[in-house]
Amino acid sequence: MIITDIQLAADLLQQGELVAIPTETVYGLAANGFDGTTIAKIYEVKNRPQFNPLILHSNSWEKFASWGLELPKEALKVADKFSPGPLTFVVPKSSKVPDIITAGHSSVAIRIPNHAVTLSLLSKLAFPLAAPSANLSGTVSPTRAIHVEMQLGKLIGAVLEGGECHIGLESTIISFVNPKQPKLLRLGGLSVEEIEDTLGFKLEKDSLLNNENPQAPGMLSRHYAPKTPLVIGLPQNLETPIDKEDLACIRFSQYLPEIPRNNQIVLSEARDLKEAAQKLFAAIRMADEMNKKLIVAEIFPDEHLGRAINDRLRRASIS
Ligand code: TXA
Ligand code: MG
Repeated sequence: MIITDIQLAADLLQQGELVAIPTETVYGLAANGFDGTTIAKIYEVKNRPQFNPLILHSNSWEKFASWGLELPKEALKVADKFSPGPLTFVVPKSSKVPDIITAGHSSVAIRIPNHAVTLSLLSKLAFPLAAPSANLSGTVSPTRAIHVEMQLGKLIGAVLEGGECHIGLESTIISFVNPKQPKLLRLGGLSVEEIEDTLGFKLEKDSLLNNENPQAPGMLSRHYAPKTPLVIGLPQNLETPIDKEDLACIRFSQYLPEIPRNNQIVLSEARDLKEAAQKLFAAIRMADEMNKKLIVAEIFPDEHLGRAINDRLRRASIS
């Protein structure tokens, strides 16, 4: 059920129901972050591995602090500049936070999402919302209410309508557990360049792509998988040539002349990485719905949001 009544969403959450909420990044599947029983339902509905911890969302750092979750002073410059926004901070956990949120870790991920509807919802609540992306584990994250409704509608209390997500990639995650050496755990909707420029130094990045010990299991190698196999590159470089009618192409800015136009999705004719990021997940869905033999996605420039786009494409790909 898609709803627009924010108070109804608040009531449902208070009653221990799951409600999908809009954020600027992707839709989240929210539960009362202090209620272990409801949080367990998130794992069940998403079929999410128990080892994958959840992000807590609220509308102010003061509220987080009242629950014992303080940002270290080293994080304040970044928080002031980019919150609310597509950035998640990992900080030491407090006793208020149930272990099921953190999958037993001693740290917890917190963020203030930048979406008017959800900020209004959060301001009505005396608890944070635990919210992973509102999709079945391993599938493409939802950027519209209808994506959630189609996949999870029957299993949850409601989907709160908030329009199309304007960032379109999940938040960038930085661990401040060691405040002197913050560490990038997931590329996302805020570019590393912007964060490093604000900090005045480089983030530690060594754990990226570590599948054996996923520090942020959004890092699992195949995480955004469409049903149609997806490869990265150009059709002419495919090892086994496939008829051009059997291909769907995701392109940055230009159509390929040799492929039928109807089989191609161009993300930003203006070569704007933000626009491309915003449209990426919907484009993967659309390409999947073309029911072709293969999706071929172009590699993006390895800078700014292009890095996060390439990261998601790699996780959606079969190689
Ligand atoms: O943009 C977003 O972050 C969206 C919206 C709904 O806020 N949420 C989201 O949640 O992407 P999810 O569950 O799909 O991804 C959360 C990521 C996971 O990769 C998880 O491992 C990581 O956050 N994470 C959560 N707690 C952590 C912790 N204590 N330490 C390290 N990583 C953590
Ligand atoms: Mg996710």
